Amino acid sequence: MSLDIVILAAGQGTRMRSALPKVLHPVAGNSMLGHVIHSARQLQPQGIHVVIGHGAELVRERLAADDLNFVLQDKQLGTGHAVAQAIPAVTADTVLVLYGDVPLIEVETLQRLLAKVSDQQLGLLTVDLDDPTGYGRIVRDGQGQVTAIVEHKDASDAQKAIKEGNTGILAMPAARLSDWMGRLSNNNAQGEYYLTDVIAMAVADGLVVATEQPHDAMEVQGANDRRQLSELERHYQLREGRRLMALGVTLRDPARFDVRGEVTVGRDVLIDVNVILEGKVVIEDDVQIGPNCVIKNSTLRKGAVVKANSHLEGAVLGEGSDAGPFARLRPGSVLEAKAHVGNFVELKNAHLGEGAKVGHLTYLGDAEVGARTNIGAGTITCNYDGANKFKTVLGEDVFIGSNNSLVAPVEIKDGATTAAGSTINQTIEEKQLGVARARQRNIDGWKRPEKIKKS
Ligand code: UD1
Ligand code: CA
Repeated sequence: MSLDIVILAAGQGTRMRSALPKVLHPVAGNSMLGHVIHSARQLQPQGIHVVIGHGAELVRERLAADDLNFVLQDKQLGTGHAVAQAIPAVTADTVLVLYGDVPLIEVETLQRLLAKVSDQQLGLLTVDLDDPTGYGRIVRDGQGQVTAIVEHKDASDAQKAIKEGNTGILAMPAARLSDWMGRLSNNNAQGEYYLTDVIAMAVADGLVVATEQPHDAMEVQGANDRRQLSELERHYQLREGRRLMALGVTLRDPARFDVRGEVTVGRDVLIDVNVILEGKVVIEDDVQIGPNCVIKNSTLRKGAVVKANSHLEGAVLGEGSDAGPFARLRPGSVLEAKAHVGNFVELKNAHLGEGAKVGHLTYLGDAEVGARTNIGAGTITCNYDGANKFKTVLGEDVFIGSNNSLVAPVEIKDGATTAAGSTINQTIEEKQLGVARARQRNIDGWKRPEKIKKS
C-alpha cells in the first residue's frame, strides 16, 4: 500500500481570539500542526499535503520542510473542498485525511485504520460520545453497516440521538476520490462542501465503510479555544509522564511535570515537582532532578544531580557530577565526571575537568578548567572586551582564590595558585603563586569624615 496524507489546516479558529493561526498554537512546546505532521511522518507516506488558508504564509514559514507540500485553499468552502485542493498532487493508492487542530492522534490508531482500507473499502475513525452535539453522526443500516454521515445541523431528531460521532479522520482508496470530489454539492444547512458526503457516495458505488475507534477519546479531540488547548496540554503531559514512569522514572507529581520535546530516560531516575524538560533531553540511570528546574537540550549522565531551581540549556553533566541549587548552565557547559557546580554559578561555553569545583557566585565564560581545579567564590572570567571573546585556560589542580578576575586571554598552568582578590591577566607558570592586588596599608590615627552641619 502506498499512502498520501492530507492535513486540513485552513480554518480560522476565531474562538482562539488570537493573531496566531489556530494550528500554530502550541501543545507541549510544538504547534498543533507540528504534532500532526510528526505523526504523519511516522506512517512513511509518499506525500504529506497540508491544506492552508488562514494565516497561510505564517504557517508555511514556520513549518516549511522538504517533505511537505503546502496547498492553498483560498476560501474555506468546506472540508470536502479542502481535500479536493490536494487531490491533483495525490499519487499513492490510499489517501488519509488528518486535521491540523487534532494533535494527539496516535500512530498506532492510524495504523489500525489504514489496515482497513482496500480498493473496495474505506476506513473511518468514529468515537462514542456522551454528548455528540456538533459532530457528524454515523448512520448505520439494520445490519450495522455504515451508510452515511449526517452533519449535526442537517440531522433529524432521530439522527441527533445517535451517539457515534465522526472524528473526521478517514482513509480512502485514491482511485475513486476525484470522481467523488467532483460530485460534492453544498446544498446543505451550512452551504459547505462536506467531505462526509463521500461516505454515502462510496456506499452507493458498492464499497464498504469499515470503522475503527481510538483507544482514548482525547486522541481525536480538537482545540477550538484556549480552554480545549489546555485540556490537550494536560492530557499530553499526563501521557508523557506515564510513559516515563513505565520506563523507571519516579515523578513526585505527574501533574506538576512538563515535557516540551523529546526525552529519553534510564532507570531509577528521580524527578521532583515543577520540572520542565525542553527540546532533546537525555537522562541516564540514577539521575536526580530537584524541584523547579528547567532543563533544555541537555544530557545528564549516570548519577548526575541537578539541585533545586537550576536552569540548564545545552549542557552536559558527566557521571556523578552535580549542579545547583540555583545553577545556570548556558550552552556549551560541560561538566566531566564528579565535577561540582554550586549556587549562583553561571557557566557559558565552559568545560570543567573531572572533579573540578566551582562552588559559589561565579561566572565562567569561554573557559577550560582542568581536573581537580578549585575556583573560589566570586570569581569571574573577563572573557569579553566589548568586541571579541577570549579564552581562559586553567590547568589541573589549580587553586583560584576567592573573588578573582581572570582577564582573558590568560593561562594558569597546572598546580598554580592565585591569591584572593587578584586580577590575573598574565600567564602563571606551574605551581607558582600569582598575586595581583594592591598591598594592604594601615594608616594610624585615621579620622572618619564628619557630617557637615547645615546652617
Ligand atoms: C467536521 C465534520 C464532522 C465531524 C467534526 C469533528 C465535515 C463536513 N464535518 O465538522 O462530521 O464530526 O469535523 O470535529 O467534515 N477546514 C479547512 N477548510 C475548510 C473547512 C474546514 O481546512 O474549508 C478544516 C478546519 O480548519 C478544521 C477542520 O477542517 O480543522 C474541520 O472543519 P470544521 O469546519 O471545524 O468541521 P466541523 O464542523 O467541526
Ligand atoms: Ca470542528
